[in-house]
Amino acid sequence: MELIEAVAWSADGEGVRILDQRELPSREMYRDLRSIDEVCDAIRTLAVRGAPAIGIAGAMGLTLAVDAHEDDRDTARSRIVVAADQIRATRPTAVNLGWALDRMLAVASSHRRASLRDELRAEATRILDEDRAMCRRIGEYGATLIGDGSRILTHCNAGALATGGMGTALAAIYVATQQGKRVEVFVDETRPLLQGSRLTAWELARAGIRVTVLVDSAAAVLMRAGRIDLCLVGADRIAANGDVANKIGTYTLAIAARHHGVPFYVAAPTSTFDSGTAAGQEIIIEQRSADEVRCGFGAQTAPMDADIFNPAFDVTPANLITAIVSDRGVHHPPFDFSHRS
Ligand code: MRU
Repeated sequence: MELIEAVAWSADGEGVRILDQRELPSREMYRDLRSIDEVCDAIRTLAVRGAPAIGIAGAMGLTLAVDAHEDDRDTARSRIVVAADQIRATRPTAVNLGWALDRMLAVASSHRRASLRDELRAEATRILDEDRAMCRRIGEYGATLIGDGSRILTHCNAGALATGGMGTALAAIYVATQQGKRVEVFVDETRPLLQGSRLTAWELARAGIRVTVLVDSAAAVLMRAGRIDLCLVGADRIAANGDVANKIGTYTLAIAARHHGVPFYVAAPTSTFDSGTAAGQEIIIEQRSADEVRCGFGAQTAPMDADIFNPAFDVTPANLITAIVSDRGVHHPPFDFSHRS
C-alpha cells in the first residue's frame, strides 16, 4: 500500500510539509510551513488534522522556533516555551498535541550537546517514526476484530491522513485487506466539515477499498437493516476510565450501535491515552466557529442570525464501547488506563 504522508519534513529540511486537507478530495496539494504562525494556522484551520498528525506537526513545527545559527541557548529555550504555548492553544481536545509538545520541551530543558536545534529535530523525527510503528501495531491488533466479508461503519477520518503512518481505525481495515479479507466500509460524511466524505472516502478509494458514503443521520437505518457488522472509529483523547472523546457524532453512533447490538470499537495509539484525566466530563471540548455550520464550504445553510451550537467533539461513555484497540493490544471492559503513559 502506498502510504499517504500527511506530515513530513520539507524537501530542504527547513520546514514542515503537510498535505493540505482543506483541498481534498478535489486537489492533492502539499504546503511547506516555515514559521510558528504558519504551523498554528495550519492546525487551527484543519489543513493538518487528526490527533496523532497534529501532535507530529506541532512537534516538528516547534523546531522552527530555533534558528540554524542560534548561539544563545537561553534565548532559544525561552523562544521554544513561548512557541509551544502558542501551538498548544490551537486545539484543546486531542491530547496528542500537548503530549508531543511536552516531549519536545523536555528535550529543550535537558539539552547538553552542541545543537539544540538538532536535538529537537531528532525528537520530532522520533515522534513521527514511533507513530508510524504504533499505527502498524494498531492495524495488526485491530485486524483480529475484522472477519472476512465484514461491513464496517466508521466516522470522521482516522486514517493515514490523521497520523504519521497508516492510520488508527483505518489501519485495521488496511491490514485486514492485506491479509486477504474482503471488507466493505460505510463512512458517515461527518458534519459539518465532512472529514468522512472528503477524506476517509478519498483515502479508502485510493487504496482500492469498497466505500459507501452516507449522511450521518442514516447510520441507524443501516444498522437496523442488518447491514453493519461492526463500528470502528478513532479517538482524540481517552480518559483513564475508558471514556472516549472523538469527532462529534461518535456518541450518537455508539448509542445506535448499542441499540442494534452492533459491536463498537475504538482504535488509538498510546499517545491518545490520558491517564491524568479520570473521566470524560473533564475533557475540554473544542467549540468551533458558527460559520462552519451557517455557511460551510461557501453556501449559506442557516439564517445568519440563528445561534449555532458547534462542538468539534463529543464523549462516548466507556459503557457503550465493546473494546479499545491500541498499539499494545485489544482492551476489553472494565477499562483502567490510569497507569498508561
Ligand atoms: O477535527 P479533526 O478532523 O482533527 O478530528 C479528528 C477526529 O476526531 C478523528 O475522527 C479521529 O478519530 C482522531 S484522529 C485518528
